[in-house]
Amino acid sequence: MAQFWKPGTEKPRLLEDEDGGVIFLSSSYSSSSSGYGYVSIEKQRQRLPVYKYRTAILYLVESHATTIVVGETGSGKTTQIPQFLKEAGWADGGRVIACTQPRRLAVQAVASRVAEEMGVKLGEEVGYTIRFEDISNPDLTRIKFLTDGVLLREMMDDPLLTKYSVIMVDEAHERSISTDIVLGLLKKIQKRRPELRLIISSATIEAKSMSNFFLSSKRRQALEGEELRPGLEPAILSVEGRGFNVQIHYVEDPVRDYVQAAVSTVLLINDKEPPGDILVFLTGQDDIDAAIKLLTEEARSNGKNSSGLIILPLYSGLTRAEQDLIFSPTPKGKRKVVISTNIAETSLTLEGIVYVVDSGFSKQRFYNPISDIENLVVAPISKASARQRAGRAGRLRPGKCYRLYTEEYFLNEMSIQGIPEIQRSNLVSCVIQLKALGIDNILGFDWLASPSPESMIRALEVLYSLGVLDDDAKLTSPVGFQVAEIPLVNKLILFHLRLLFILF
Ligand code: CDP
Ligand code: MG
Repeated sequence: MAQFWKPGTEKPRLLEDEDGGVIFLSSSYSSSSSGYGYVSIEKQRQRLPVYKYRTAILYLVESHATTIVVGETGSGKTTQIPQFLKEAGWADGGRVIACTQPRRLAVQAVASRVAEEMGVKLGEEVGYTIRFEDISNPDLTRIKFLTDGVLLREMMDDPLLTKYSVIMVDEAHERSISTDIVLGLLKKIQKRRPELRLIISSATIEAKSMSNFFLSSKRRQALEGEELRPGLEPAILSVEGRGFNVQIHYVEDPVRDYVQAAVSTVLLINDKEPPGDILVFLTGQDDIDAAIKLLTEEARSNGKNSSGLIILPLYSGLTRAEQDLIFSPTPKGKRKVVISTNIAETSLTLEGIVYVVDSGFSKQRFYNPISDIENLVVAPISKASARQRAGRAGRLRPGKCYRLYTEEYFLNEMSIQGIPEIQRSNLVSCVIQLKALGIDNILGFDWLASPSPESMIRALEVLYSLGVLDDDAKLTSPVGFQVAEIPLVNKLILFHLRLLFILF
């Protein structure tokens, strides 16, 4: 068993940092897990890139209020860091380590993985909470995985989130609307709870802007002359993992039907390429189901070459048994084909993937404040997403990524980064949640990225017209507070309220 550093003991020398500034670390660690055969769970853990940084992470968390951990997907951030913290004593004395995820399925999957690694029953020492499902025990649970939406909900009952010693906001690069709100609120909570530690983890290198965001409040604290606090500047730790090379293939001409194109590509890979699992990125349950149907039919009519395919869907709403199939090793002589939403882009790591088929699309939320219409639409992904998707093929050995769009399109038309969800969403539930938490000046809230004033005004107008907000833009009593009490379903309720409003 390797050594790790406990808070309160002498800090490791390797990381001396005189002025409490930003620390960069690098290491020439290379990871390669075979993906096949039996390897003990402890061995698997030790092979993850993040394992080498265990001491560093524990030191930074002890000495800095905020630590930003950047590391590529699959390096072990989500499953290992909460365990390191627990082993180092951060869950002693009844305290709890929280780790948030934007996606429900990811919460379930990582919680059960961590429970398995720790050899405990899920729902006891390791638990999780998602909407409508609480598999945690207030007396026993020391590591809790939850969606950032659920963490927001918990703030309504316990605004300072006092039971948590460390909150890890995971998948921060995804910039989901709840993640952005949570980050703004945690920054506030930190001022009141200097002992609280934040870890922000992300798969991409936007760490600097995240660091600046947390820095500004620290500077203010320092000026206010408050007592000594842990490192005022956020620390940034970069976990170096080694992905293998991924060869990119583009289509020569734009495809008309990406479901059909994806299916043909899978069959082609199965025909021509050596063993290795295939991960296909489509957009949602509907096109995934369609692709599975098509693939099953075509594979059957293709005869012997396709008999070894194990075809599995991956989208939120799968049962636990279905999830287990995704993660179980592929039997010898078979080839797994996982057809997924963008959940497999960074939230979940599948072992054994050698080939990626990227449709170039994902389901995204778009909102028009003028018409007040919000839609979930199939839209082109960004270059950043395309790179992430390709990277999924290089975990085991050199892989291949088949992009169902042209190189010219990738180079000249794809946007570099996606737009944060908060800038393309209806803000009604976001406004209610903030109001219920006592944040009255929503336009002046400390946003990581500000929502558009039009959307904000539109949300305020709607809430006012429904009697949820009063003339001073405060929650009305009782209606406003009642609506806020059930924030997770308030959109639905508002929809009905609006119907009533229109009808009568
Ligand atoms: O968070 P990050 O992307 O850095 O990695 P992780 O989710 O902690 O994954 C670390 C390892 O755990 C990967 O090799 C995954 O394949 C494995 N894992 C698993 O086998 N089953 C799960 N349900 C989750 C992770
Ligand atoms: Mg992760």
